[in-house]
Amino acid sequence: MAYDAGDTTDHDLTDHDFTDHAPVRDWVNDWDWLDDQWGSNAIDIWNDVREQCPMASTERYGRAFMPVTMDAVSQVAHDTENFSSIWVNVSRPDAPRRPAPPITSDPPDHAEHRKLLLGPFSPKKIQQMEDEMRAYCRDLIADLDGLDQVDAAERYTQHIPVHGICQITGIPEGDADLFRDWIHRNFQLAPRDNTVRMQVMTEMSAYIDGILKDRLENPNGDMLTDIANAEIDGEPVDWELKLGYVRLLIIAGIDTTWSALGSGLWHFAQHPDQVARLVEVDNDDLLWQTASEEVLRYYAPVTMARKVIADTEVAGCPVHTGDQMLLTFPAANHDPEAFENPEEFQIDRARNRHVAFGLGVHRCLGSNLARLEMLVGMQEWIRAFPNFSLDPDGVTTWANGQVRGPRNIPVLLNR
Ligand code: HEM
Repeated sequence: MAYDAGDTTDHDLTDHDFTDHAPVRDWVNDWDWLDDQWGSNAIDIWNDVREQCPMASTERYGRAFMPVTMDAVSQVAHDTENFSSIWVNVSRPDAPRRPAPPITSDPPDHAEHRKLLLGPFSPKKIQQMEDEMRAYCRDLIADLDGLDQVDAAERYTQHIPVHGICQITGIPEGDADLFRDWIHRNFQLAPRDNTVRMQVMTEMSAYIDGILKDRLENPNGDMLTDIANAEIDGEPVDWELKLGYVRLLIIAGIDTTWSALGSGLWHFAQHPDQVARLVEVDNDDLLWQTASEEVLRYYAPVTMARKVIADTEVAGCPVHTGDQMLLTFPAANHDPEAFENPEEFQIDRARNRHVAFGLGVHRCLGSNLARLEMLVGMQEWIRAFPNFSLDPDGVTTWANGQVRGPRNIPVLLNR
């Protein structure tokens, strides 16, 4: 299978200044998802922008747009004729890009890559992981014995998704620090810095190349063995694409759920009334489901992007070939046209058609796993520490950019 190794922008950016990292003062005309305010204030920022217009713009990464309404986000996500996934984050347009299918593929190729990875993420397969996942969470909690004050991100939320993805794929869990370092550099630094992006891709590819080659020689039936031997229409998949599959699973499977689960614990640490309602009911009560879905709606961590590949219009605004388009799923989740009282966190919200997992052909492939990790992670923590609260002397820091969530959550356990 051939692959498209990415391309460069269609704009002339010879004299463009990509070094403008000044704090944003005008979010409508000069937004920046790596600005220091984004991590902890993004919801307010999107709401402010929406009151002024449906779509913001910036020139900091070349021309890039940020739609903030459900209508506009949905239009872009469903339109694969005018918007391509060849660029899935807003970065310098001359950034080196490598394929990581299916997320970087467009139809018709997209479907066959997605099909190759789907099996282990089916509802049935994921459900079978529940008991083991609970045992894992309880072990993490047992390790907190004797402590009254902890960082719930460092000791709990950051580990659960690594465990999940490693259980499914066969990726070595002992290398978790390496994965978190790649993810940090990839999302927080690379959009502005091509050297960092190249370094991360090279390091990840070398690591994955070693594991996949090992599976060719020593097949053990895990998902990595299947990927190492993957074929489409009887033809071996290009090796570069196989590296891309695994890069994507590591990048997409870890800090996404880490952020969602972390946001949930950060939220509940400040809402003892809601925790009291959860503790009252069984784990299979609908309230746990609605609570988890409301965390996903309210704190949706993932913002994607597209490259404009044909001149068209979004929310009445012309966009041109080569422009970048943020797919602000989290902002759409706060659109009052789509949700009743979106600024209220309603633990029992009955109608909740949030788009935290995206829309259209690229809708999240790992959503069953993410939902299991969130539910089990929140249940085990809240049952163990029903009186936990945010530590008033601690500071929560939020990751900004593509995957937004609390990177440390200082809490008092109040056993
Ligand atoms: C709460 C956690 C998660 C959230 C909010 C989330 C969100 C998303 C979103 C918004 C997309 C759409 C991308 C687009 O339109 O370009 C997506 C795609 C994807 N996600 Fe997730 N994700 C989560 C967890 C996971 C996990 C645990 C995995 C496991 C590996 C995963 C794997 C993927 C993959 C492979 C795709 C690409 C699907 C395709 O292109 O067909 N995600 N995710």
